[in-house]
Amino acid sequence: MRFFLDTANLEELKTGASWGILDGVTTNPTLIAKEGVPIEEQIRKICDIVDGDVSAEVVATATDDMLAEGRKLARIHKNVVVKVPLTRDGIRACAKLSREGIRVNVTLCFSAAQAILAAKAGAYFVSPFVGRIDDSGWNGMELIQAIVGIYKNYGFATQILAASLRHSGHVIEAAKAGAHVGTMPFKVMDALFNHPLTDKGLDQFLKDYHKVFHDASVAG
Ligand code: E4P
Repeated sequence: MRFFLDTANLEELKTGASWGILDGVTTNPTLIAKEGVPIEEQIRKICDIVDGDVSAEVVATATDDMLAEGRKLARIHKNVVVKVPLTRDGIRACAKLSREGIRVNVTLCFSAAQAILAAKAGAYFVSPFVGRIDDSGWNGMELIQAIVGIYKNYGFATQILAASLRHSGHVIEAAKAGAHVGTMPFKVMDALFNHPLTDKGLDQFLKDYHKVFHDASVAG
């Protein structure tokens, strides 16, 4: 499973990249607006920090405008994946951009039917929003499972990018279901490290060692 950070914040991305487990980044207009920097400039900075796929979303809503915006975003860096919403115009733009060799992430996917449309349009990624489905009283993970099954049936090449992951349980369940990628906010990725038995075990190991060997470290 590839791990992406769902943020446009450079400090969070630098920390994530320093862990050596970060495979890419997803952004959306809300996340870009939060940083207050124009999208092209911010995406360029993100590509300098993270060596992996970086999704950059169009804000146009008509196909021709999405195409123009998408081509412009794709020119920023070879790692940019153009994100378009799962609308009729978005699917039309996805089909065209994909035929031009531009990788597309179809976002705001909330049903298996929509995921089939994205795959048929040649999307590189489809992004089902797990957390937002849970918020509305449905089961987001069931959608991930359904899409995994459908894509397997037909050998669709589109990768399933489990999005809107809100906690460690979502990450684990998306991995169990076979999602290719999980994208998560920094705080969710950071929380994956935590286990009280790790802290307790480490504390005991160090106490035992230093009781016998008083020098600070193996290296020292
Ligand atoms: C995905 O690419 C989206 O940016 C994101 O996962 C949305 O998550 P949210 O529902 O927590 O805003």
